Amino acid sequence: MIYPIYIYGQPVLREVAADITKDYPELDKLIADMRETLAHSGGIGLAAPQIGLSIRVVIMDLDLISDDYPAYKDFRPTYINAHIVEYDDKETETSDEGCLSLPGLSEPVRRPKRIRVQWLDEKFEAHDEWIDGYLAVVMQHEFDHLEGKLYIDHLSAFRKTLIKKKLQSLIKGDFDCSYKCKVRKPTR
Ligand code: NI
Repeated sequence: MIYPIYIYGQPVLREVAADITKDYPELDKLIADMRETLAHSGGIGLAAPQIGLSIRVVIMDLDLISDDYPAYKDFRPTYINAHIVEYDDKETETSDEGCLSLPGLSEPVRRPKRIRVQWLDEKFEAHDEWIDGYLAVVMQHEFDHLEGKLYIDHLSAFRKTLIKKKLQSLIKGDFDCSYKCKVRKPTR
């Protein structure tokens, strides 16, 4: 099943997502559906809040960028209850980021190069690792979603001013999108 992607302006994107337990109902189906949704939208990562679920589940498909990053060939991880527990901000890196919840936008974002992450894999086995490289960038983007944060929160005040109109259009549903979307319902 393909879920609609929740678009900027949807309150769930601003919530801190909850850890889940192994008995979360139909978790395997949820992950399979998230994979189908990600493939449909052409993104490289999807966090559960982007389909309206405030839980700490993230999937990625970095195989999509394996032409540029051969190390990520066939790399399609699932991260459950992920938490970034340390940032090594001695070195930072700036790369262009986009987000399925912010269609039509892309902005350079500066982030620490290395992070320490704790998570559970699909078998609920625990991991605690220092991550660097492009994966560290994608993880920071995706795990921000679990904290109710979006990449635009990292932009300078100046750049935020430049994209203000586009953000307003997203809230109003006035944008083009090639995948199924869910815009905030107008309140009046
Ligand atoms: Ni995103």
